[in-house]
Amino acid sequence: MSWISEDSSSLLSRFCASILKAGPMPRHVAFIMDGNRRFARKRHVERHQGHTQGFDKLAQTLKWCLDLNIHEVTVYAFSIDNFKRSKEEVDSLMELARNKFSRLLEEIDNLKKHGVCIRVLGDLKLLPKDIQVLIAHAVVATQHHNKCFLNVCFAYTSRHEITNAVREMAWGVEQGLILPSDITEELLGKCLYTRHSPDPDLLIRTSGEVRLSDFLLWQTAYTCLVFQSVLWPEFRVWHLHHAVLQYQANYTAIQKAREAQQAESVRHEYHADLEVLCAREGNEDENELMLATTAGERMQRTQMFLRVLCVSSHMSLNSGSPPKK
Ligand code: FPP
Ligand code: MG
Repeated sequence: MSWISEDSSSLLSRFCASILKAGPMPRHVAFIMDGNRRFARKRHVERHQGHTQGFDKLAQTLKWCLDLNIHEVTVYAFSIDNFKRSKEEVDSLMELARNKFSRLLEEIDNLKKHGVCIRVLGDLKLLPKDIQVLIAHAVVATQHHNKCFLNVCFAYTSRHEITNAVREMAWGVEQGLILPSDITEELLGKCLYTRHSPDPDLLIRTSGEVRLSDFLLWQTAYTCLVFQSVLWPEFRVWHLHHAVLQYQANYTAIQKAREAQQAESVRHEYHADLEVLCAREGNEDENELMLATTAGERMQRTQMFLRVLCVSSHMSLNSGSPPKK
């Protein structure tokens, strides 16, 4: 199956989608696609078939998301911990990725038609070289598509991602590009693999496990978490609709929490700028103009730092080796 299913949705599911769309809709949904091996056991088929059907389910789910005007989807396709599985299983998952990413290049017209931009997030240098190259080609081929975004987390764990971001900021301080006081939640967010995306509004984990397994820990602080017992390859459009209903039921509380967090983040930056200003001027007077200048300088420093990081990751992409991130 290709990356986006071309199956047309049933009349009933389209009708239900139109009712759901009358309420607040998540713009970004994340999935922990769990339960492929249990599905394979249940159906008495090989493990790799469970994963292959898991991929087919992803393609169907993307179509259902588009029907609901959900334009950003992030999936946990392979965690760094998954490297600890048997060699046979890791090899078969790599073969699936090899197959699907080469297929992606063949069906580029279909992805263009839907405007799908594919991003692959993770420590790509942990992957076999040929897959790194296929991923680089797929990412470059779809990078200008902007109707919807599919973020595939591959060789990813959240703590690895956060550690990488902290290391980059420490490097920025060491190089004199930023000051220690420039390190804020916002800057850390911009150093994560997910920096191009808003935080997910809704996260769905299938298979009955009720934990995040090191997936998007930073990004899901204010996300509606929905755990469903269905095994991923058996996920149906009704499970998606039910999760959206849960999001809608919790929408007001989530928005309130997000707004409070944003106000807190602005307050932190204000105090950080004030500290820099006081240290520089040697007095504690609040001078609005000087404060605005200090904030402007901080923004210039952080933008320059982020540009340096971006250029270094592009240089490694173009040289055929994985991006630094
Ligand atoms: C979790 O089920 C699933 C995975 C570790 C792999 C998910 C991968 C896909 C659905 C294919 C995606 C591929 C690409 C190229 C995007 P599990 O293996 O943990 O099953 P279990 O919980 O029943 O043991
Ligand atoms: Mg599992």
